Amino acid sequence: MFQNVEAAPPDAILGLVEAFKKDTNPAKINLSVGVFQDATGQTPIPKVVTEAEKRLLESETNKAYKPITGDPEFGRLVQQLMFGESHEIVTSGRAATAHTPGGTGALRVAADYINKVHSGSAIWLSDPTWANHAPVFKAAGLDIKSYPYLDRQNNCLDFQAMLEAMQNVPARDVVMLHGCCHNPTGVDPNVEQWAQVAKLLAERGALPLIDFAYQGFADGIDEDAAGLRELANHCYEILVCSSFSKNFGLYNERTGAFTIVASDQPTAANVISQVKACIRANYSNPPAHGGAIVKIVLSDPDLKAAWINEVADMRNRINDMRTLLVDTLKSKGVEQDFSFITSQRGMFSFSGLTKDQVDKLKNEYAIYIVGSGRINVAGITEQNIDTLCDAIAAVL
Ligand code: LMR
Repeated sequence: MFQNVEAAPPDAILGLVEAFKKDTNPAKINLSVGVFQDATGQTPIPKVVTEAEKRLLESETNKAYKPITGDPEFGRLVQQLMFGESHEIVTSGRAATAHTPGGTGALRVAADYINKVHSGSAIWLSDPTWANHAPVFKAAGLDIKSYPYLDRQNNCLDFQAMLEAMQNVPARDVVMLHGCCHNPTGVDPNVEQWAQVAKLLAERGALPLIDFAYQGFADGIDEDAAGLRELANHCYEILVCSSFSKNFGLYNERTGAFTIVASDQPTAANVISQVKACIRANYSNPPAHGGAIVKIVLSDPDLKAAWINEVADMRNRINDMRTLLVDTLKSKGVEQDFSFITSQRGMFSFSGLTKDQVDKLKNEYAIYIVGSGRINVAGITEQNIDTLCDAIAAVL
């Protein structure tokens, strides 16, 4: 049976990590996958995570299965983080959350739920979007549509084009928006624009799905939820896929959440029962460890405050590297204006480098960047900045 199986192409992002690991060039630089690195190029475990793990080790009494949707307390804390502690969505019980294996797991659960319960609803993705969005939704059997997002000439949001496309979204289709730190562009709508989009989607009868993987990486934990909270002022049904890979550094613990917001508590209970059926037929119930860490940190005011500071440190380092990149390119005589990089938000910079230039950077300089020209700014350090900018200057 296996004799005629052809090899699949490498993954657009994780395939680069595999190639990077095999590269023997001592000057190699990995700016591909979205993983935070500190000034020494290491991916640190946040101190609050280590502390929570210590407490967990001392208090854990068994490894019995979690409920299909995970620990209910984890779900409540996730809702509070997204909407604010005393938000009506949290206190009314018209939201329900499932702890999922990572943000990607949350997306797949969302996709399975849509396919099973709202069959015929297509999903609209921004152009461009995360390289794995379409494969996840396609794998679940959904039709993929796209709406324009980026004004590539001016490196900013093409809001008019985005709104025009959304005017044609049929009722009951699902529209994905990135909660903050749009991946790959780093370009986000402002709160007024969120309000306009929200009103339009509500008017059209479309269902918003928010991919919320970078809360805290743009302006702050609460600040980064402003778009989602504005959306909730206009749309009473929402899906949210959260990830704690980046803001808790829990990449390999696969810790995420899928939240459904409905008009009232009984409706939410019906919807989550369908979500549970999708999960049971997929991975049965979630891996406990990462969710337990998030729960310990978010439920202890001191640990939570320390976590907010650690996220701020990560955010500030990335922003410093944005400035360093722009300044160093300039100092090396690069005439092309890259100043837009300092106004992009989150982990990534959509550099404007072409596919050819990206290939040259990889093949001639061992610098790994995603094919779209997306740079993981967190991979830049004071040690590699000169090598990086010399190579960019050369390929330009
Ligand atoms: C990324 O965009 O690099 C991250 O979300 C990691 C991944 O799984 O692709």
